[in-house]
Parts: sequence; structure tokens; C-alpha cells
Amino acid sequence: MIVWTDFHRTLSEYADGFASLAAAYDGTAGSSAELEAVIDRYSALILEPRNTLMWEELIRREPEETERLAYRLRERSALCVALMEKYRALKLLEGAENDSGYFRNIEACIEEEFGSFTVTPESRVLMVGSGSFPMTPLLIARRTGAQVVGIDIDPEAVELGRKVVSRLGPELPIRLEASSVEQLDGLSTVTHIIFSSTVPVKYELLERLHPLTGEQTVVAMRYGGGLKSLFNYPIRQAADSRWRLAESLLKPGRIFDIALYRKAAVSHQLDGGAR
Ligand SMILES: C[S@@+](CC[C@H](N)C(=O)[O-])C[C@H]1O[C@@H](n2cnc3c(N)ncnc32)[C@H](O)[C@@H]1O
Repeated sequence: MIVWTDFHRTLSEYADGFASLAAAYDGTAGSSAELEAVIDRYSALILEPRNTLMWEELIRREPEETERLAYRLRERSALCVALMEKYRALKLLEGAENDSGYFRNIEACIEEEFGSFTVTPESRVLMVGSGSFPMTPLLIARRTGAQVVGIDIDPEAVELGRKVVSRLGPELPIRLEASSVEQLDGLSTVTHIIFSSTVPVKYELLERLHPLTGEQTVVAMRYGGGLKSLFNYPIRQAADSRWRLAESLLKPGRIFDIALYRKAAVSHQLDGGAR
């Protein structure tokens, strides 16, 4: 029987392992197999329902240490997931596509991204944290015909991402930029925004985007609570926010959940109009 102390040890080992794997990156895909195997095992651990009880027991027994451990795991696993996308991009560009349980899970999440906020060919989508392997921009542009702009804080990710798009969808209306939200052209015409779950400052960016975007803009915020918060930055209370939570899409068996927001003033108008 696994006890909470064993579970704590296992999680600490993942935190140490992620730090070594991130440090091993040398601009090539040399260490990719090991990283992919660890991320796949970690994904399975996060999604195993029995581990939720173990996690709750850990929090009950050692709340402060568990909080610190969760912080380390979230930060380091986010770095490793970004790195795994670099490896995936490098392998694609070398002519060897790879397949992992983690990527299959993410791609299944993207299918259901916007819930009732339908994306049409006329939509303009902004993805914050588009990554080195821009699965979301590629999937949305291909499925819906919408124009997609991806931004990423990491110039290497943008450079790799552009090459991946040139390889997998050169005809698709996708633009990738190493730009801050304030520097981006055409923000007032964006209809849909998606936040990658592993962007630490996603709620700060959400607030900064409010005055820069149109009244009808809607947001899909990827997040993870409970055990999933060891792999995703969690949802935040938006009590004072100018964005209103419109829908929560909880996805058992998926790496992240999705919170859909729209502008608070628009929600009031809609509520008023319905009465
Ligand atoms: C794991 S990738 C995710 C996206 C994935 N490629 C997709 O299409 O679903 C997360 C990316 O977020 C980026 N990132 C982290 N912080 C950011 C920030 N403040 N602004 C923009 N991008 C950020 C990282 O550099 C990383 O490339």
C-alpha cells in the first residue's frame, strides 16, 4: 500500500528530475526520449483518481511543505513541457515526428477548447504561449479557417514555431510573434483569446488585455486545480476582475481544464437583455 510519505517522496523525485532534465538541454533533441518518458509518467500520475486522496492527505499533514513542493513542481514541469515542444519541433524538422501520450492528451483538449464560444472563419484568435510546436494555432486554423496569432516570451520558441508552421501548414493564416500583448498589432479585432496553462502570469496578462480588446472578446483560460495544479497554473478568483467567468469546462482524464470568460459589461448587458 502506498502511504502519503511515499507519495511525497515520489513527487520530490519528480521535482529533482525535472530540474536535471531542463538543465540537460543543449539545443539538440539528444535528451528527448528521457524527458518524454518522464512527462508521460507524470501525466499518468496527475490523472490517476486514487492519487487525489493521497494529495489531499499530504496537504492535511504538511500544508506549508506541500505548497512549496507544488510550486516547485509547477514551475519545473512547465519548463520541461516547453522543452518537450522544442524537442518535438526539432525532431519534426529533422524528419522524425514523435508520438507521446502527453501530446495526444493535449490535442484532445484543443478539440473542445471554446465550449459554446464558437470559432468561425471570421474569428481572429490570439494564443498566449504558443510554444515551439504550435499545436493549438495549427488545429484551430485548419479546422475553422480563423486567423490565429500566437505570442511567446521565448524567441527560440517563436523561431521553431514558425518553422513548424511552414512545414505543417504553410497555407494556414497563422502568425507567430515574440511580442508583448501591448506591442501586438490588431488586438482590437481579436475575438477569441486562449491562454496556455503553463504561462505563470496569465491572469496579469488577462487584466492587461482588457482595455486593449473589443467588448465581445471571449477568453479560454487553461488551468488545473487539485492534483492538476502540479502541472498547470490554477484558476484565480476573479471577484474584482473586469472579466466574468461564463463557463467552466472540467475535463476528467485531460491534462488541463478550461475557464471561459467574457467581459463583465457585456455579461451585464446580456443578463439585462434576457430579463
Ligand atoms: C507549453 S507551451 C504551450 C502551447 C502549445 N504549443 C499549444 O499550442 O497548445 C507554453 C509556452 O508558454 C510560453 N510562455 C511562458 N510565459 C509566457 C508569457 N508570459 N508570455 C508569453 N508566452 C509565455 C513558454 O515560453 C512556452 O513556450
